[in-house]
Amino acid sequence: MKVLESYIELIENNLFGFLPNKKLKQERLINAAKYSLGAGGKRIRPVLTLAFCKMCGGNVENALPVACAIEYMHTFSLIHDDLPCMDNDDFRRGKPSCHKAFDEYTALLAGDLLAIKPFEIIAHSAIDGKISFSSAVKCIDYLGKSVGANGMIGGQQIDTDTNGRIEDCNEILSMYSMKTSDLLKAACCCGVLCAESDNEDFYLKKAEDYAYNLGLAFQIIDDILDMTSTTEILGKPVGSDEKSDKHTYASIVGIENASRKAAELTDSALLSLDCFQDNDFLKELTNLLLERKK
Ligand code: IPE
Ligand code: IPE
Ligand code: MG
Ligand code: MG
Ligand code: MG
Repeated sequence: MKVLESYIELIENNLFGFLPNKKLKQERLINAAKYSLGAGGKRIRPVLTLAFCKMCGGNVENALPVACAIEYMHTFSLIHDDLPCMDNDDFRRGKPSCHKAFDEYTALLAGDLLAIKPFEIIAHSAIDGKISFSSAVKCIDYLGKSVGANGMIGGQQIDTDTNGRIEDCNEILSMYSMKTSDLLKAACCCGVLCAESDNEDFYLKKAEDYAYNLGLAFQIIDDILDMTSTTEILGKPVGSDEKSDKHTYASIVGIENASRKAAELTDSALLSLDCFQDNDFLKELTNLLLERKK
C-alpha cells in the first residue's frame, strides 16, 4: 500500500528529532527510549493521526509532530507492559525488550520519558506554528484523558489487578476498550483536531466510534495471534497470555468465535468511516488490520 508506506516513512524520518542527540550524562535514558522507538513497530497509531487529519481536510505535515507524540505514548505503554512486574516479556518488536537490552530502572525511566514528552511535543508544535494553540490544547486534553486513569493506564491496572482472570466477555471488552481503544481514539481524534474542520464535533464523534470498534478488534486479534502465531513472525513472545494464566476474549470464546467477533467489530468500524470523503485509504487499512499476521 503506497500511502501507508509514505506515511510510515514520514513518521520514521521525524520520530527521533524530538530527543537530544548530543552526548549527555544520562544518555542511557535517551538511548533506551530511541532503542524502543526504533525497534520497528507497525506505526498504526501515528498513521491514523495523519489519515484522519487528511480525511478532515487538514495538512498531513502539520499533524506530523502530534502523530510522533502518539507513537511515543504507545511505545511507553509497550515498555512498561513488558516489565517483569507486568507481562514479564523479554521480546518486543523483534528485539530484546527494553529492560533486557538495558535494565529495569532504565526501561522504567525511558517509559516515563516517552509518556511525558508527547505533551511537550504537542505544545511545541503550536509554538512552531504547525497547529493552532487551540488545537494543541485540545490534543493535550484528549491525549491526557485517553491514557489516564479512565483510559489506557486504567485498563492496564484492571488487566494486571485481575491478572487477566476476568471470566465475563463483556467485562473483558470493557477493559480492552480502555487499554487498547482509548489510545487509538486519541490517535484518530488528534488527527481530526489538527485539521480544524468546521465539522470538528461531528468528525470527533465518528472518529471515536471508529477507534472504539477498531481497538476491540485489534486487541482480540492480538489475543488470537498470541495463541496461534510464532515469536519470529510477531516479534514478541507467543503464549504470553497463557503463561500468566490470562483469560482473553479469544481464550474464552475460542478462536473461531473470536475471529468472527473481530470481523463484526471491523464492519462497525468501517461504517463510521462512511461520512468522510476520501476514505479509501482508511477503509483499506482497516481491512488489512483484520487480516494482519503480526
Ligand atoms: C501492541 O500494539 C499492543 C496492543 C494494543 C495489542 P501494536 O500491535 O500496534 O504494536 P507495534 O507498535 O506494532 O509494535
Ligand atoms: C497491552 O495488551 C495493551 C497495552 C496497552 C500495551 P497486551 O499485553 O496483550 O499487548 P502485547 O501483546 O504485549 O503487545
Ligand atoms: Mg499486557
Ligand atoms: Mg503484553
Ligand atoms: Mg497481547
